[in-house]
Amino acid sequence: MGILGRVVVTVLPIMPRFIVGWVSRRYHAGTDLESALETMNRLSKEGACFTVDVLGEEITSMEEAQFFIDEYNRVLDSIVEQKIDANLSIKPTAFGLLIDPNAAEKSMEEILRKASSHEIFVRLDMEDHRVTQRTIDLVLTLHEKGLRNVGTVLQGRLFRTLDDIQHLTDELGEYADHRICKGIYLESANIAHTEKRSITKATNEAIDAMLESGAYTAIASHDTAVIEHSILSLKRMGMGPNISDPRSNAGPSRIGKGPGYEFQMLLGVRGDIRRKLAKQGHKTRIYLPYGSKWYEYGVRRLRENPDVAWHITKALLMPWSNRR
Ligand code: FDA
Repeated sequence: MGILGRVVVTVLPIMPRFIVGWVSRRYHAGTDLESALETMNRLSKEGACFTVDVLGEEITSMEEAQFFIDEYNRVLDSIVEQKIDANLSIKPTAFGLLIDPNAAEKSMEEILRKASSHEIFVRLDMEDHRVTQRTIDLVLTLHEKGLRNVGTVLQGRLFRTLDDIQHLTDELGEYADHRICKGIYLESANIAHTEKRSITKATNEAIDAMLESGAYTAIASHDTAVIEHSILSLKRMGMGPNISDPRSNAGPSRIGKGPGYEFQMLLGVRGDIRRKLAKQGHKTRIYLPYGSKWYEYGVRRLRENPDVAWHITKALLMPWSNRR
């Protein structure tokens, strides 16, 4: 990011809310479920499917968890009713994992059971290092309870990730289903890679380990170095669009899933690459956040955008280019 970009990131918090709102609107699907459904119905025509995230993170009291329980139930009802190819992404701390783990598990189990009855998958997003182990343990416990429609996210930047892949493979076998991303939380150097190049290298190694382990592998990155590496690895494994998963250690094909892998991208980020991958026949899933907490999420995405200064100028001067 250039000097101007860093200046823009510094002044973001004091920028008028309506400007941030206008520029960041490409990153979220609106404030309510109706807008999210409208966005999904529109983007389905580009060959995308979705994972829906109700915006909001760590809660401070268990009463707040009820909002997420109710809202995810509404999401499930709507995607089933409107036959949208979508699954759910949920943040365990929004259900109270750090306040009352038993109650949080119970609420998530309820949603998973309902999702399972419609053959819908639920991804537990991975948050910072405080909950890495607890989130993995939660997935294992839910599987022990017979809920096979759940998996979590592993972060390429963490040193522990290759061990986690091995552990999850040992425990879940053909039911292992991971999303792999670089990891958004800036973890300390004693537990994580901190340089861009080593994070990318470690993420690519994790992708290869997942593919070799037989796990369903959801590759979540906008980085061409990761995407190109993944395509080469898929070819090496004999995997690709419209080829049924050839791995002898993989599970059977599952409803709403790709042939052992898929690509995932955030709404509003590198839509050009996503459309190209979809055109080539790869299953591509859009991470689609919506909700009243759009401001915090939008600021975070703007901060991550390496061309933030140009991006804001362009969105204001050429509003039609501010597309998802
Ligand atoms: P990188 O950050 O290097 O970006 C590659 C390129 O993409 C940039 O050069 C730029 O061109 C473009 N780009 C990236 N961000 C942009 C932006 N905001 N605006 C415009 N262009 C942008 N993390 C986590 O810790 N836990 C999780 O559960 C998830 N879940 C998740 C789901 C999905 C579907 C995705 C795509 C990502 C996540 N992440 C995540 C976030 C992830 O860990 C990571 O922080 C971001 O995806 C950025 O990493 P990239 O691999 O895209 O590379």
